[in-house]
Amino acid sequence: MMSRIDWVRLDVTDSTNNYAKQHACAHNTAVLAAVQTQGKGRDGRAFLSQKGGMYLSLVRRDFRPLAQCAAYMLAAPLAVCDVLAEYGIEADIKWPNDVWVQGKKIAGVLVETEWRDGLVSCAVVGIGLNVSNDIADVPCRATSMLAEGVKADVFVVANSVAERFFDYVEQPLSALTAGVKKWLITLGKRVVLPDGRTAVAVDLAEDGRLIVEVTGERVAVAAGDVNLQE
Ligand code: BTN
Repeated sequence: MMSRIDWVRLDVTDSTNNYAKQHACAHNTAVLAAVQTQGKGRDGRAFLSQKGGMYLSLVRRDFRPLAQCAAYMLAAPLAVCDVLAEYGIEADIKWPNDVWVQGKKIAGVLVETEWRDGLVSCAVVGIGLNVSNDIADVPCRATSMLAEGVKADVFVVANSVAERFFDYVEQPLSALTAGVKKWLITLGKRVVLPDGRTAVAVDLAEDGRLIVEVTGERVAVAAGDVNLQE
């Protein structure tokens, strides 16, 4: 059977997300680079991208309205957790879409979107996963598949992640949020709201926002609006 995924495999690029956007990659393209020279993380942070890691961008052009866009950021960590589980690594999702193994980060997701006529004309879902890259210089508590005792081929891992992501992204938001909640370690944790008040994370909304409880009231908060307390 022909794969539905068009692969672009690069030895090096600045960022696979940038490559996908600049080359206007088609729907269901997967861009995989062995090394990124300017890997991007969320909130403008750099994402260290040395050889041995998985630097993957998955492209969707399904013209979704804003209300359906959470699928991009929910499907990615779900796909990663599934694949890690297949390799015997039990992972958790730290809201909004980081993947952790016993308190150490193993993967991160950066979703970038382009809009036309009020719809997302292009979503580039970038996933960085520590496979066998050196994690000594990663600026947070980190782990890798190799550090968890698993030797894996980056392309085989990327192909499994991409296949699962493209399956998940077609599913209804209710199924995706239910899936994410099974792995989510953030529920029950304290978060600090923009006004300085402390709240407790109690649920995940279908649009991907975190529902927190503060002074007996439940409010939904977006990823950029709150700080999670460690
Ligand atoms: C984060 O943890 O803050 C998000 C990291 C996202 C990294 C991936 S690697 C593939 C894609 N290309 C990038 O430049 N960033 C994403």
